[in-house]
Amino acid sequence: MRKGILSLMALTTAAALSLTACGDDGNDSGGDAAKGKVGVILPDTASSPRWENFDRPYLEQAFKAAGIDSDIQNAEGSAQRFQTIADQMLTSGVTVMLITGLDSNSAAAVQRKAQAQGVKTIDYDRLTLGGVADYYVSFDNVKVGEEMGKGLQKCLGDKASNIVYLNGSPTDNNATLFAKGAHNILDKVTNYKKVAEQPVPDWEAEKAATLFEQMWTEQHGKIDGVVAANDNLGNAVVSILKKNKRAGDIPVTGQDATVQGLQNILDGNQCMTVYKPTKQEADAAAKLAISLIKGEKGETTATENDPVGKRDVPSVLLNPIGVFKDNVKQVVDDGSVKAADLCKGAYAAKCEAAGITVQ
Ligand code: GAL
Repeated sequence: MRKGILSLMALTTAAALSLTACGDDGNDSGGDAAKGKVGVILPDTASSPRWENFDRPYLEQAFKAAGIDSDIQNAEGSAQRFQTIADQMLTSGVTVMLITGLDSNSAAAVQRKAQAQGVKTIDYDRLTLGGVADYYVSFDNVKVGEEMGKGLQKCLGDKASNIVYLNGSPTDNNATLFAKGAHNILDKVTNYKKVAEQPVPDWEAEKAATLFEQMWTEQHGKIDGVVAANDNLGNAVVSILKKNKRAGDIPVTGQDATVQGLQNILDGNQCMTVYKPTKQEADAAAKLAISLIKGEKGETTATENDPVGKRDVPSVLLNPIGVFKDNVKQVVDDGSVKAADLCKGAYAAKCEAAGITVQ
């Protein structure tokens, strides 16, 4: 008897599953499809903690608040995995995709496939060169680089200085824009001399540490300031400076306002970071995704030129903020970083000195 019920249950489950599979293949014309579903592909977990710590939860919240189904996945640094996730999302009937590409070629291939199936795409944070995204949502990334340049100049003063650059991944259009912005500021300071500049493949901290150590050896330690394109790379530089007992003497920049970056700032080992309120970015992208689902024209504030695709992409470009020891508090007050995470152990006193209180 019990066996009978169990097999009946198994059958019912199988039937339900196959029904779901049918419903998910994009052929259904039911209410769900009309409501739309968003697929999000984040790039990796290694280049910056931002993707899993900031972007994922904020995007999740934004779609939930709008009552829109979302599927958020991470390509873990693999373009192949990126493609597989995209294929699965397209099969499951997503109506809009939000992607942060690992490189323009693989991201553009995904966008063309989506387009062929009538699925709209949004470039989230990184512009896909030669892509077909309907919108691009990001920060003003040249300005991000300019904040780094201004920040380094503020920490260095105008004294004669040798500067090195550790740029982001050469496959990330943002990295090009960050470097451009930093050069816009620093190249004008006649007392500064660029003595080395290297892109860091995949934004990997380990590679950054090796590259910086090579620069340090080649320059016989005569480096006075470092443009590091994000907090992960900045921390790699700080680790090599610590090894050489020079941490704190040499200003280093960063980006993303991560817990580690902010702690390096509180320690006096990192000059500044660039804070990009991810919530604003996630909310702006979610808003555009929703307008695409509703078949409405989304609100944009700018255009970004894609020099490969030779087109201007309707965009939302937000404003980055330079963060130094005296305004680390702002990141905590915004809720981007929790005081409890930042002010652990030895950082409790440093937080207090920076006016940050742990509840
Ligand atoms: C950039 C992004 C940065 C940083 C970096 C590494 O494209 O704008 O915020 O996280 O990638 O992931």
